[in-house]
Amino acid sequence: MPPSRIEERLKRRTARIGVIGLGYVGLPLATEFAKAGFRVTGFEINARRVQALNAGRSYIQDVPTRDVRALVRTGRLRATTDFDDLKSMDAIDICVPTPLRKTKDPDVSYILAAVREIAPRLKRGQLVVLESTTYPGTTDELVRPLLEHGGRRVGRDFYLAFSPERVDPGNPTFQTHNIPKVVGGVTPACSRAAAALYSAVVSRVVPVSSTQVAEMVKLLENTFRSVNIGLVNEMALMCDKMNIDVWEVIDAAATKPFGFMPFYPGPGLGGHCIPVDPFYLSWKARQSGFEARFIELAGQVNGNMPYHVVQRVREALNSRRRAVRGSRVLVLGVAYKADIDDVRESPSLDILDILQKEGAKVAFCDPYVDSIEHAGRTLHATPFRPSTLRAADCVVIATAHKSFDFGLVAKHAKTIVDSRNALKGRRTRGVFRL
Ligand SMILES: NC(=O)c1ccc[n+]([C@@H]2O[C@H](COP(=O)([O-])OP(=O)(O)OC[C@H]3O[C@@H](n4cnc5c(N)ncnc54)[C@H](O)[C@@H]3O)[C@@H](O)[C@H]2O)c1
Repeated sequence: MPPSRIEERLKRRTARIGVIGLGYVGLPLATEFAKAGFRVTGFEINARRVQALNAGRSYIQDVPTRDVRALVRTGRLRATTDFDDLKSMDAIDICVPTPLRKTKDPDVSYILAAVREIAPRLKRGQLVVLESTTYPGTTDELVRPLLEHGGRRVGRDFYLAFSPERVDPGNPTFQTHNIPKVVGGVTPACSRAAAALYSAVVSRVVPVSSTQVAEMVKLLENTFRSVNIGLVNEMALMCDKMNIDVWEVIDAAATKPFGFMPFYPGPGLGGHCIPVDPFYLSWKARQSGFEARFIELAGQVNGNMPYHVVQRVREALNSRRRAVRGSRVLVLGVAYKADIDDVRESPSLDILDILQKEGAKVAFCDPYVDSIEHAGRTLHATPFRPSTLRAADCVVIATAHKSFDFGLVAKHAKTIVDSRNALKGRRTRGVFRL
């Protein structure tokens, strides 16, 4: 079959690419396309982000401002709140949020809003790819009917595919360009067009037979993480009861050269992916009468970890004849993982919340986060210094940012709850580990 017009335009780099939603996923992707020589337009509802980008400033840690500045200056990257420009795009990538509702049901309203912007402007031959993590069936059951409205046919009048985003914020080794991209189109022509789009910017494209498979791939990956983290968190609680050092167990098990992959216990899950995505899958499975038991169980174990950390804080304070009420507790790290600035769903927020409700005077240090909204007010970060560490009755290591000097923590803190094994080999007296 001869290549379609869009495949030709992608090959010649004359295709114009639109990215809807310029967040942790959309901005790195947009800059990657622009670096590959395409003219890229970001469509964003947040006017402040649009302004920053057009002024050549990055607001995402993994995307250097110097890259954005150079791409904006040469006209290869721009952002807009005007969705009418979608008409002049050859390919459109949707990278909007997919959170959960309070009931833990999927909230696909952002996807629907983005598709409703595209539908009335859809042009013949355009390629639309959904990248937001979502349940299997979303592309075919939700997106496709909206785009086929008015008699258009997918694979003939336009192309539609799903390609999960796998970016790992803060990972210096694997970034958009060298993470293989799974692609599933609604029709073979859709798959070819989407594969042509990503081949221009990523090292390897992995075609799969349908959009449903591509959607499920991402959910398997994230459920795999959630369940294994749940397992190792349960191991940590079990080892605690049996007086066995879980960290030593994991390190020794990890020497097995096959069949074992180390996961580490911690204060709970965070971020926009691992605590959220598996519930998209269990919700959809339930529609088919299937109970996804591993997902629910991992959710319970992981969701309980902040309470376990607080229990450790109680034990630490008790060892100094103190109650939680009135004690000063300093939490180190509120980002959900090391060396990034994202606090979404961070277990540190739960830990601060529980402690504050129990009457502790809470504070936090985080080199990546200036302030958080906590208990109805803005809580500003406390500087990381010996006097701050000394002033606390208990220091909780919640996120092991590399820039924290754990030697100082070991030297100055009165008692420490170490949920990350960050003090390994430094101090044991007055240290309460998971
Ligand atoms: N953050 C990650 O590490 C990660 C990794 C892989 C996949 N994902 C998935 O990618 C998707 C996006 O996540 P993210 O972390 O980039 O979210 P984000 O919140 O960082 O960015 C989303 C952006 O979309 C914008 N937006 C919302 N509705 C819009 C609309 N209708 N039109 C235009 N812009 C709109 C928001 O203003 C925001 O700037 C989610 O489905 C997420 O699960 C995220």
